[in-house]
Amino acid sequence: MGRTAGAGVLSFSAGSWPLRALAMSKKLGSSWPNLAAQSQDAVVTVSELRHQVLLSWQDPISKTERFGYNNDFLALLPGPSSNEFFLWANHESIHPIFVSDYNPGLRPGVRKTKVQVDKEQKEVGGSFVHIKKNQDKWEVVQDSPHAFRIDATTPMQLLAPRPIQNSQTAIGTTANCCGGKTPWGTILTCEENFDDFYGQVRFSKRPNNLTKRHLIAASSTLAWDDHTPHPPEHYGWVVEVNPKTKECKKLISLGRFAHEGALVLQAPDGRSVVYMGDDSSNEHFYKFIAKKPGSLEEGDLYVANLEKGRWELLSIQNPLLEKHFKDQTDLLIRTREAAKLVGATPLDRPEACAQDPISKNIFLACTNNKAAGRPYGSIRKFYESDLLSMHCRSDIFLDCGPALGFACPDNLIFDSRGNLWITTDIADYDLMTEGYKELGHNALVFIPLSGPNAGQAFRVATAPREAEFTGPCFSPDEKTLFLSVQHPGANSKSLHELTSHWPGGGSSIPRPSVIALSGPLFDQILKI
Ligand code: FEO
Ligand code: CA
Ligand code: CA
Repeated sequence: MGRTAGAGVLSFSAGSWPLRALAMSKKLGSSWPNLAAQSQDAVVTVSELRHQVLLSWQDPISKTERFGYNNDFLALLPGPSSNEFFLWANHESIHPIFVSDYNPGLRPGVRKTKVQVDKEQKEVGGSFVHIKKNQDKWEVVQDSPHAFRIDATTPMQLLAPRPIQNSQTAIGTTANCCGGKTPWGTILTCEENFDDFYGQVRFSKRPNNLTKRHLIAASSTLAWDDHTPHPPEHYGWVVEVNPKTKECKKLISLGRFAHEGALVLQAPDGRSVVYMGDDSSNEHFYKFIAKKPGSLEEGDLYVANLEKGRWELLSIQNPLLEKHFKDQTDLLIRTREAAKLVGATPLDRPEACAQDPISKNIFLACTNNKAAGRPYGSIRKFYESDLLSMHCRSDIFLDCGPALGFACPDNLIFDSRGNLWITTDIADYDLMTEGYKELGHNALVFIPLSGPNAGQAFRVATAPREAEFTGPCFSPDEKTLFLSVQHPGANSKSLHELTSHWPGGGSSIPRPSVIALSGPLFDQILKI
């Protein structure tokens, strides 16, 4: 079962499976199945996998709550019995046409009403859902007392030594992209493109050496700042959710930027080390080392400086940083500025990261940098066998693109055998256009890191029109892979001009959903 064991020759009897693979899977001179590029408005899998739609937008998750929009990060926590689990799902964003009937394309110049903003604010955040496996099928436990929602109206503590914009409470969470799990059973949900909703702040120095704060408005289609002008400084954090108490806390110590996810690992002394990408062009990769075991409330934040080969500490004690910021809280609110002052290395939209269970290296997805002529992205490898080391070494593991069969990696996970699973995020406006067309729809890709196929990419599932797969998450027995299907039909111009009808088909509106993938491919991988 180790890295050198080899993939072996697989023998599948796909004929006994229902007709769920809409396209032929083919074996490209190898022992693993590989799906051709797809363009159907459907989830298409190799015939060695099948999928089930578990949960869609607006489905009830309890007596009073419904599943939110554009689900992303997924995490499983143990449930009350061996076949029951709690599924956490982030809800990253909304599509106004579907959620609030706001359509500036049809009604130019019309501003969003408070009622529309209220509706949209209930659709982001996260869902905690009770699920169980019944024979071969997964189902939601209806009316579970454990299920709950958080959204953009949920009050939560800002865990900082002083108020931020006169408050130690933030109203809600938004832009909840990827996330993480802590060893003590809490969920981390990461605020990424928060500026779409509440805008951003910039700071400039005035002649008297005081700092001036400039407010930059949110994007016009999502803007909530017209009706609920919450300070942008209250967003862009990692939020820790305790499913037992439903308490949410914004972890200021982990910095403020477009947080993709938070990979939590354990140092030998019991403290947690968290790796985090800032998903914007030329932004950075961060590492946080907690002060004490069992908590992320205090600790040190570092940023990768690949030129000098070290993790740079972002501390107000650094004389260079002390000159620029009022205090550590001010520095953390403006993490990106501090990172640049200490020489952080610009990266190509650093997204999610995962630890190889065999080598212990950290793999980081860098989606792309079109302006720099790198439209397909890459996967970087960080040599972090000593989590507490200040040495920072990294190289490119894979350059993605048509030659490899996939582009724009976003989420990464490893299975227990050390195989890498990748979901791709070619932007909905780039999909099927020049340069990306031959790659087809966004995909789930499997890369063995050992055996005769090591380093080869195998496309095993593809997403409906304009969607991406996100939040890959294995069940503990690795026989089910849960996936989010996010933003199907994102380019629909109105409810009468839909570009996707997934999953309902016919003339139905598209609904972001969670699917469960299973089948003999996973069984065979478990035998490696
Ligand atoms: Fe929300 Fe960076 O993907
Ligand atoms: Ca993502
Ligand atoms: Ca993405």
